[in-house]
Amino acid sequence: MQFLTFALALAAPIAALPAAQSPRPLEDPVKSPFPIHHSCNATEQRQLAIALQETVDLVSHAKTHILRWGNESSIYRKYFGDRPSLTAIGAYDIIINGNADNILFRCDNPDGNCALDGWAGHWRGANATDETVICELSYEVRRSLSTVCGLGYTISESETNTFWASDLLHRLYHMPAIGQGLVEHYADGYEGVLELAEGNRTEAVHDSETLQYFALEVYAYDVVVPGVGCVGGDEEETSDDQNEETGETPVEDQDDEDTEEDIPENCHTHEGGELHCT
Ligand SMILES: *[C@@H]1O[C@H](CO)[C@@H](O)[C@H](O)[C@H]1NC(C)=O
Ligand SMILES: *[C@@H]1O[C@H](CO)[C@@H](O)[C@H](O)[C@H]1NC(C)=O
Ligand SMILES: *[C@@H]1O[C@H](CO)[C@@H](O)[C@H](O)[C@H]1NC(C)=O
Ligand SMILES: *[C@@H]1O[C@H](CO)[C@@H](O)[C@H](O)[C@H]1NC(C)=O
Ligand SMILES: [Zn+2]
Repeated sequence: MQFLTFALALAAPIAALPAAQSPRPLEDPVKSPFPIHHSCNATEQRQLAIALQETVDLVSHAKTHILRWGNESSIYRKYFGDRPSLTAIGAYDIIINGNADNILFRCDNPDGNCALDGWAGHWRGANATDETVICELSYEVRRSLSTVCGLGYTISESETNTFWASDLLHRLYHMPAIGQGLVEHYADGYEGVLELAEGNRTEAVHDSETLQYFALEVYAYDVVVPGVGCVGGDEEETSDDQNEETGETPVEDQDDEDTEEDIPENCHTHEGGELHCT
């Protein structure tokens, strides 16, 4: 009797499942906002999709901050001076709502640049102007936005490419479909970006670095440590512009120095080791 109950209990669930059936995988909730090439394997596709979604989240917040505060925001004025806000709003919005068809992220290292020491990715320039290669290093070292203001990161003393979201934002601006040749490099590093804004230069609102720094700073200030953020350095804030002169952009990434002689003729690297080609 006891045996029979036991046997029935065992038999019931087994009978309910046809023999040796593997469950059909449930759908992955992660969707990439930009096309990812099949050369990226499953983990790379998923990591990249999550990082690109973080890029969209980062700029969505930046756009919201500008729409709400405009130049009333001291952070706005710190990065964009007295320039009208329309250009920066558009530069963020095209990341969120732009047509992503002519953009491709790939993982197969077609130009061989990923072999260069310290390279985390590159725009393909003349070889394929709508394509960006993301090298293995990115999957290892680029950080999630959840670590903004943590692990020693400060806005003023850390590289913008500490986070994958801002690194990918920079890479997206190099793609003609997004940057349209308007978002370019006019300033390098935190001090350079602040100088651009102080002079009320029109370039501030379409400078690639400025757009990254602003997005990170308002994210830190509004979202991560509300009302405080993590500017770092001497914490001199927005309207205090006495000692901008002293700063030099720290070059932290030793590896980049080694690669100087290997870069293509029409290209150059700058902070963080990105390749920029004309
Ligand atoms: C994808 O490729 C990377 C780099 O070669 C590797 O580390 C990772 O294990 C691969 N993932 C899968 C699921 O094969
Ligand atoms: C702020 O923007 C308004 C127009 O929206 C403009 O009239 C004003 O001069 C700007 N102020 C500063 C400090 O740039
Ligand atoms: C374009 O391709 C050539 C030949 O493979 C290569 O030498 C060059 O570095 C590539 N350019 C970029 C920007 O990767
Ligand atoms: C930039 O614009 C602000 C606000 O209008 C003004 O206070 C400041 O003097 C301007 N700076 C320069 C260098 O023109
Ligand atoms: Zn660049």
